[in-house]
Amino acid sequence: MQLGPYTLPNALFVAPMAGVTDRPFRKLCKRLGAGYAVSEMVTSRPDLQDSLKTSRRADHSGEPGPIAVQIAGTDAAMMADAARYNIDRGAQIIDINMGCPAKKVCNKWAGSALMQDESLALEIIEAVVAAAVPHGVPVTLKMRTGWSASGRNAPTIARAAEAAGVQMLTVHGRTREQGYKGEAEHETVAHIKSRVRIPVVANGDITSPQKAHDVLRRTGADAIMIGRAAQGRPWIFREIAHYLATGEALPPPDLMEVKAWLLDHLEDHYSLYGEFTGVRSARKHLGWYAQALPLPSGAAALFRGHINTLASAQAQLACVRDSFDAWAATGTDETTPQEENWKLAA
Ligand SMILES: Cc1cc2nc3c(=O)[nH]c(=O)nc-3n(C[C@H](O)[C@H](O)[C@H](O)COP(=O)(O)O)c2cc1C
Repeated sequence: MQLGPYTLPNALFVAPMAGVTDRPFRKLCKRLGAGYAVSEMVTSRPDLQDSLKTSRRADHSGEPGPIAVQIAGTDAAMMADAARYNIDRGAQIIDINMGCPAKKVCNKWAGSALMQDESLALEIIEAVVAAAVPHGVPVTLKMRTGWSASGRNAPTIARAAEAAGVQMLTVHGRTREQGYKGEAEHETVAHIKSRVRIPVVANGDITSPQKAHDVLRRTGADAIMIGRAAQGRPWIFREIAHYLATGEALPPPDLMEVKAWLLDHLEDHYSLYGEFTGVRSARKHLGWYAQALPLPSGAAALFRGHINTLASAQAQLACVRDSFDAWAATGTDETTPQEENWKLAA
């Protein structure tokens, strides 16, 4: 698939997820089969641009390109500045966030709230395109199907965005009003795909290779984007790639393979956040990995509970090593001696 000057290795994208899809996670997803990943959203507020959080989000070292940075905001001039700021720091693609339902974002009329005000949305799109395209940087747009069931205006915005120079559209098949409730629909994506010439990406509730295949077939989308189903399961991308190529399911990874990926993930995570923050922010990932493994009932919760008591990188790494070794030795349908100890200690 082609995006501006970039040929993407495949059509399997990692969704931007604030607090999740940081550089270490994106790198791992790309290593395990994702063809493209968008960074966590970066604020367009200049007063926050030098905050530690924002500078970590703008860190792309060692990440295979193209580097796509998502920006969020409500003011066209500030969004254009944010595009330039990120291009100066290595962004090769700028993605405009018109999909995020978070109250923190929407109360300020950013994210999916922008879909309620089409003229402001278009003003922002035009300003960002004018700032980025002269540098050879394509601009993409991520949105929901609309603000509410009665205002599904994604197709209108899609056509206006294409006319304004946006080079790819991603649509999460829910309205802002739905939050994450109900099931994502992909008919709106199919409709948009039939009305524009730029690539269209389908997003929402794609949780398995079969679902990926089905959504691609039903929508005619150029690519699919996966968010929550990749949490703790970054190998979902290679599973989907294999299924799309062969029509057959790839056997699940073995425990030792997952252990090696997870240890690499943790090392990279500590290197970005430092030990104190890194150990704490890694806990959610560890919980998701445990949930994704075929462990006996209660084992994931025990693992999570124990992980939450550990405060050093060394202890966290040792717990991962020991747990995976114990699961591999005992078989994942029995309680390990280590888990018995955690139960006693709890
Ligand atoms: C924890 C979390 C953080 C998210 N942060 C962003 C964000 O920063 N920008 C954005 O456009 N969407 C964000 N989203 C929405 C996702 O990109 C995606 O559209 C949504 O989760 C639906 O896809 P899924 O069903 O594959 O998870 C976030 C979602 C989650 C769960």
